[in-house]
Amino acid sequence: MAKEKPVRFTAQQLREFTSNYSTRLGSGGFGVVYEGQFSDGVKIAVKVLEKSSEKAVGEQFMAEVGTIGRTYHINLVRLYGFCYDQNMSALVYEFMENGSLDKYLFKETRKIEWEKLHEVAIGTAKGIAYLHEECQQRIIHYDIKPANVLLDANFFPKVADFGLAKLCNRDLSYMSNTGYRGTPGYSAPECFMKNLPVTYKCDVYSFGMVLFEIVGRRRNTVVGSYETLDWFPKHVWESYEKGELVEMIKTCGIKDEDQEKAERMSIVALWCVQDSPEVRPPMSAVVKMLEGGVEIMSPPRPFNYMYSVGMNAAQPPMISTSSSFFSSEENKSYWYKETTPIEKDEIQIITH
Ligand SMILES: Nc1ncnc2c1ncn2[C@@H]1O[C@H](COP(=O)(O)OP(=O)(O)O)[C@@H](O)[C@H]1O
Ligand SMILES: [Mg+2]
Repeated sequence: MAKEKPVRFTAQQLREFTSNYSTRLGSGGFGVVYEGQFSDGVKIAVKVLEKSSEKAVGEQFMAEVGTIGRTYHINLVRLYGFCYDQNMSALVYEFMENGSLDKYLFKETRKIEWEKLHEVAIGTAKGIAYLHEECQQRIIHYDIKPANVLLDANFFPKVADFGLAKLCNRDLSYMSNTGYRGTPGYSAPECFMKNLPVTYKCDVYSFGMVLFEIVGRRRNTVVGSYETLDWFPKHVWESYEKGELVEMIKTCGIKDEDQEKAERMSIVALWCVQDSPEVRPPMSAVVKMLEGGVEIMSPPRPFNYMYSVGMNAAQPPMISTSSSFFSSEENKSYWYKETTPIEKDEIQIITH
């Protein structure tokens, strides 16, 4: 099964794997997830997709499942197989022992070291970078959020639910009619403002929101309360603008030794959530900036559309397309500058 295309299972097999759907792991926008096990003991998660008239049928379903199943990366949750018949459709994934990141960020009872969270952020960024920049056919996730970052037995992060938007016909073409896509609080402005093109940069925005939540170890906001002063991303920007980012990070309870990483993470987050999609860095640049070793440029002020018109704006956000602000994907120095590394030989000359 390891390197083959996803296996097709029958509904009866899935019932056996899940002991008649006895253990529920959770539920989301696409259906309910159950814990299960193959007969050889390998644990699985079975996501039973909701029946919907819009759902992809037949060949289209197989094609999308095939794409998801052929997308391998260490930071992406593996799809082992699927079930498709007239009564049900389901996806069979590798089981992630430690569940989803949201539980570690928002529930006091689950503990995870901040250093580990920094690694989780980098791994997640690498998974998304693969979807955007490296796999055969670019995959836009549309629903990046802590609940879709799963952690294995060693807390190694893997992105879940990629390809689902398309599989369940919730991609661009479908959602433009209803005007909304993704999860409130993580969706880029272009996702809920009509007539704006939505590109892979919407995932960069959502990832930025996840970074804020990692720094704050709290939800950025309660849905519908963007206007309140307690919206964490705005707080980060205002601290940064005043040169008080370090103080703010301290109030988040981040230890001294993690401070520099948290600072970097906050600035990268501010880059990711820029109003204008083209100003947001591509995910490969995000990875580099999070890993360190490059000098990160100063981000411009984000959230202008929110400051000026509020969340119930009927108008599209101010998107800057002035040429001085525009940057090609190749020109990565727009977001960061390579710092010149000291050559090994030079170190030897100095020390000997
Ligand atoms: N492969 C998996 N391994 C372990 N737990 C999983 C897996 N997939 C999903 N889950 C759990 O099931 C929950 C529900 O998943 P999902 O239906 O995708 O909704 P959401 O992503 O909105 O939380 C997740 O939050 C996660 O805790
Ligand atoms: Mg999910």
